This record gives sequence, C-alpha cells and structure tokens, in this order.
Amino acid sequence: MSKSSGQPPPKAFDAMGFATRAVRAGTERSQFGEHSEAMYLTSSFVFDDAEQAARRFQNQEPGPVYSRFTNPSVQMFEERLASLEGAEDCVATATGMSAILAVCLGLLKAGDEIVTTGSLFGATIQLFDNFIKKFGVGVRYVSLTDPSAWKAAITPQTRLFYLETPSNPLTEIADLEAIGTIAREAGVITVVDNCLCTPALQEPLRYPIDLVLHSATKYIDGQGRVLGGAVAGPTHLVHEVRQVVRTCGPSLSPFNAWVLHKSLETLQIRMRAHSESALVLARWLSSQPAVARVFYPGLASHPQHDLAMRQQSAGGAIISFELKGDSPEVMKQRAFALVNAVKVFSRTGNLGDTRSIITHPGSTTHGRISEEARQRAGISQGLIRLAVGLEDVADLQRDLEQGI
Ligand SMILES: Cc1ncc(COP(=O)(O)O)c(C=O)c1O
Repeated sequence: MSKSSGQPPPKAFDAMGFATRAVRAGTERSQFGEHSEAMYLTSSFVFDDAEQAARRFQNQEPGPVYSRFTNPSVQMFEERLASLEGAEDCVATATGMSAILAVCLGLLKAGDEIVTTGSLFGATIQLFDNFIKKFGVGVRYVSLTDPSAWKAAITPQTRLFYLETPSNPLTEIADLEAIGTIAREAGVITVVDNCLCTPALQEPLRYPIDLVLHSATKYIDGQGRVLGGAVAGPTHLVHEVRQVVRTCGPSLSPFNAWVLHKSLETLQIRMRAHSESALVLARWLSSQPAVARVFYPGLASHPQHDLAMRQQSAGGAIISFELKGDSPEVMKQRAFALVNAVKVFSRTGNLGDTRSIITHPGSTTHGRISEEARQRAGISQGLIRLAVGLEDVADLQRDLEQGI
C-alpha cells in the first residue's frame, strides 16, 4: 500500500518493546493522514489502467487487488501480529479452525503423518479425525507432556507436529524446547496453537518452533465480538498457507481485522490482569473442600509449574478444576449445579472475554468427541473450566463460593 509522508516502513518497530509494537507496528495511513487506522470495507480495488491491473494480478507490483487475499485492514492486522509473535510473516484467516485447516491443506499431502496429542481443543481433534484422515493423512496421538513419546512417534512419513500449550482445558504444558528440537532434527514442521497465552505471555517462535497459530476469536479480540484466526512464522511456510487462503477463501473479513488490530493494542495489559485474577481464584479454589483438583500453570502445585514459568510470563486466564464425587453421574450433577448457580460468570462456550465464563467441557466443548478421546484428553464429568475475565476478583470469588 502506498503510504503518506512520514510513515515508517513496516518493520520499523520490530526492535522495540512489546507494548510499543502492539500500538505502533502494522499501521498504514492513507493520503488523509488518519491517526486511528481506517477500516477498508471493500471487496475489490480499482486500477489506474489495464497495465496496472495485469501487474497487480501477476504479483509484479505490490498493492491490493481483491479482499479475499489483499485487504489493507487485514494486512495491518497481519503485520502487527507478526511483529508481536517475532515472526517474519503472518496470514489471517476467518476463524481459528480455518487457520488449522489452511495449515493442513498447505503443508500436507496424502501419505503424510501428523503427530499430535489428545490434549487439544475438541474441534481440532474432530478436524483431524473426521476430515484430514479422509484425505490419506495419518494422525498419531501422544502425550503432550512427554517429549520422548513425540520422538518415538516419528516415522519417515511424519511431516507435522501439532500442539497447544497450555492445553485447553487442562492447562498441560508442552516443553517447546525439547519437542521443537526433536522436530528440527527429524525435519518435521512444528505448529503451536498459542491461543491461550497469546504473544503477550508466550512467544513460541523463540524456541525451535516453526509456526504459531491463533484463534484470534479468543484473547486477541478479548471482548467476545468477532471470529478470526492467524498463522505466523517464516515467509516460506506462511506463503504455503496464504496460497490456501487466497484460493480456497477462508479469509478474514476487513471489519473483523480492524477490530482485532485495535484489540492488539490492549492485549498485554488485558493478559496481565486476567492472569492476576486467575491466580487469586486458583489459590482460593485449591482450598475448597468440594474441589478435588485445580489445574492452573501459575500454581506451584501444577505438575509443570517450573516449565510453565520458564516459557510463560504469567499463568493466563484459564483455570480448570474437578469437583469431588463418587461416580461420573454425581460429578456431572454437581458440575451442572455450579454452572446453574453462578450469577456473575456467563454460561457460554467461548473463552477469551472481558466477562468471566464458566463451562462444563465434558458436555459442551468436548461433548462431541468420543468417550475414548475424552478420556485421552482427561476430561471428567466433574471438570469445570473458568475463563477469568476482568471483573473485580472478589465478586468472582463470591459468585463461585455461593455456587459451590
Ligand atoms: C485452543 C483453541 N484453538 C482453536 C480454536 C478454534 O477457534 P475458532 O473458534 O476461532 O475457530 C479454539 C476455540 O475455542 C481454541 O480454544
């Protein structure tokens, strides 16, 4: 895009601090010199003449063509997120799921294998098992927390390692250094879903990790308004994913891109506030007689607390905990009673909002996967997931207290 005078080049802020990049990187001004970025709600762009149209279509001249693959609002979001993730390049997608699909379509062919883990968002498991396998790609599941299992699962066909850390909902932590090193030695591409931490708390590309993936719907928006996704990493890999977006069309809308671009400006302060409140609630939940176990990486009792605190600057917003009960039926009954009793927490399946959310994963986000896959993911009927928002933490604690 052409820039107004005084506009810094796209990578000018990359050496600066996170907060500076969050508000300054990826800004393109039009000839009007607007301070807040404009929103480019248009499906196509006009050309000065036929020659320019031909050059733009053949990638011989930079500049927007058609919003499925070149929209300035989308490009601004991509540039800002790339800068925050420390990535060379980034491509935005309509949703987090379409980011995962675009990675698979762009990087895999029939006969290849993915090594992944049961500790994944439920729809990601469904995408792999119900769709990706149909096209002759093998999927192997190993323990997220055991790097030696990832190594043992490699075959000559392995092309991709796919993981989330912390995992949703149990907040298990993957050792990015160990798993990334194993992948690099085997020539395998590693993809990390950084949805729960965001680059404000964790930068996977500082490790031997190739691609970072996002459901921008979650903390990048952080206010429960729009859907979006993104894949960031080296240009040669992002290029393959971008080709899928360009041709197959799971493109981010300019409106959503503008919202997400603005949201990145407050990402760091939001993630710090979410994490502070979540730690208070996780500690309090640990002391409750009705609670069997609390899963939160910021707690010293978390089995991978040290690893989490090396990789993450804080614990994040997601806490899961298991209610006591003698049988799955009793546990489910108690979990449902708590979900029904809260007055401040919202009963909704999303996460990544200013408003705190309570979810029963076993019957919602992980309700459609098989019982075997649910057990592999460690989702019991007594499990409750909290996505801690930005309300006063004392109000949240009181709300849970009267429900428990
Ligand atoms: C960890 C994780 N990855 C990916 C997704 C999918 O994102 P979207 O809903 O934007 O398609 C989700 C959605 O909840 C998620 O929690």
